[in-house]
Amino acid sequence: MLDLSDFAKMTNSDSEDEDNKKENIITEQVFEEKLIEVHGEKIKIREFAYSNTNAGVIWPSTYTLIDYLLLNQERFKNKKIIELGSATGVLSIFLNKKGYNVTSSDYNADEITENINFNKSLNNIEFKHIPHTWGDTFKEEDKDFEIVIASDILLYVQYFEKLMITLRQLMDNKKDSFMLMAYGRKLYDSKKFFVLLEENDFEYELVGSKTWIIKKKQ
Ligand SMILES: C[S@@+](CC[C@H](N)C(=O)[O-])C[C@H]1O[C@@H](n2cnc3c(N)ncnc32)[C@H](O)[C@@H]1O
Repeated sequence: MLDLSDFAKMTNSDSEDEDNKKENIITEQVFEEKLIEVHGEKIKIREFAYSNTNAGVIWPSTYTLIDYLLLNQERFKNKKIIELGSATGVLSIFLNKKGYNVTSSDYNADEITENINFNKSLNNIEFKHIPHTWGDTFKEEDKDFEIVIASDILLYVQYFEKLMITLRQLMDNKKDSFMLMAYGRKLYDSKKFFVLLEENDFEYELVGSKTWIIKKKQ
């Protein structure tokens, strides 16, 4: 498993990562609850200030994915969906409230898992969460998904190869499986993700503003 301190060494062009390097001196977590309203659904989310993996807050592509998923419901409803990099859990919470069958997942760290569970309770909703660090092996019962979704997960250039292992575990040998991904941050190295996709026999298509569908080549 990766060490959380590795994230401070991530190749990332954003200056806020300089702040991440100071993470070790922070001793007390800071939480804040907010109420958001998305497409008529009121959701309470507890965010937290200090996360080495940027899992404490809601990232903007969440809303891009929500718009896409609601516009294309027939492709996603009644499918078994796993979200990668769920962070606060907001997208999985919203989609489960709307009747989609979504399992959340994120880096295997107690602070993330506990916050997602907390947010599920805040919203009186229950669904499975899988603590999963990219590249780790899924249990057999945790690989049985038809669709992968992910918002703003392309920050971690050093871990793209591990992410490929996870995507291959979830999508290899499944003819109709695909991933829906949106990312809004412009990062110098995010193009490496697409190079790796091709090397791992994936194909991709831009289907909306910074929104991609990724599939195994047939
Ligand atoms: C920028 S945040 C986006 C969070 C969320 N999808 C959103 O849009 O609000 C990226 C997420 O990817 C997760 N992540 C980063 N590296 C990971 C790894 N190696 N394995 C699993 N999850 C990882 C982080 O913990 C974080 O929750």
